[in-house]
Amino acid sequence: MYNLLKGKKGIIFGALDSKSIAWKVAERSHEEGAKFVLTNAPVAMRLGTINELAEKTGSEIIPADATSMLDLENLVDKAMEILGGKIDFVLHSIGMSVNVRRGNHYTHQDYNFTKTGWDVSAVSFHKVMSVLYQRNAMNEWGSIVALTYMAAQRVFPDYNDMADNKAYLESIARSFGYFFGRDHKVRVNTISQSPTPTTAGSGVKGFDGFIAYAENMSPLGNATALECADYTISLFSDLTKKVTLQNLFHDGGFSNMGVSNAIMDEIMKNETSNETVEESKKKDKK
Ligand SMILES: NC(=O)c1ccc[n+]([C@@H]2O[C@H](COP(=O)([O-])OP(=O)(O)OC[C@H]3O[C@@H](n4cnc5c(N)ncnc54)[C@H](O)[C@@H]3O)[C@@H](O)[C@H]2O)c1
Repeated sequence: MYNLLKGKKGIIFGALDSKSIAWKVAERSHEEGAKFVLTNAPVAMRLGTINELAEKTGSEIIPADATSMLDLENLVDKAMEILGGKIDFVLHSIGMSVNVRRGNHYTHQDYNFTKTGWDVSAVSFHKVMSVLYQRNAMNEWGSIVALTYMAAQRVFPDYNDMADNKAYLESIARSFGYFFGRDHKVRVNTISQSPTPTTAGSGVKGFDGFIAYAENMSPLGNATALECADYTISLFSDLTKKVTLQNLFHDGGFSNMGVSNAIMDEIMKNETSNETVEESKKKDKK
């Protein structure tokens, strides 16, 4: 390892179990010499295995619902106390759609669910940064990263209202990133990650097909959770000080592809059984 985060202090949101992207980021941050606190929603702590990660990385856990300003204020105050000063890096690795969980179609949402999903998946990023900004809790040249998905730019029908939440999240990164850069020399970016087999990822309808398609479309194949963690470490490190307000695709090249030979071969193989647009509409309505 390279000691890329030696002496740096952080807050990592969203490690639920060993498949979580945040879990890998915590492990890699530890390996690179950082100290950090782990946080997750109180209910997730009961379901997940975050204690294991805390033990392994010598970190403390501070529960916080990322939609609650009170919880976030308590988290930031306690994190600075435990870590002995201001924060150098923050990972927002949080996403949840109640409409997806309840199987509501994008065209027929329960708007109370829509609001909750938006608050958890997008506005929480604003709330986290607002608390850090108001408390002047970030060190100069610190780095804040949130995770997103390309459904913010292009249509992935089964990603449902999470597509809109991710578009909002990416916009917050730019808007808040301006003020954080101007006033505190802190950078704010989003990483747009390949489909990854985690609890949140697998909740998307037809995830297996989804991940296989991306794998066959990308010249380098899908990026794994560990590879995402490596990329995140580079953004926390001093090697990327002037990268800010960016949505950075970490997807093996998927986002710039039109079609690949592997996908074309697959289509030609199945030419006779190809689904028409009408057939796919009928299937979607079932
Ligand atoms: N898995 C993928 O395919 C994929 C692809 C691109 C981006 N992402 C994004 O990566 C991030 C991490 O997801 P993951 O794939 O590691 O899945 P995950 O299920 O392991 O992580 C999601 C986390 O969000 C937390 N969370 C939910 N509600 C919360 C709340 N109110 N307060 C605090 N935390 C809350 C959960 O407890 C969980 O730890 C998400 O933003 C997700 O949208 C995932």
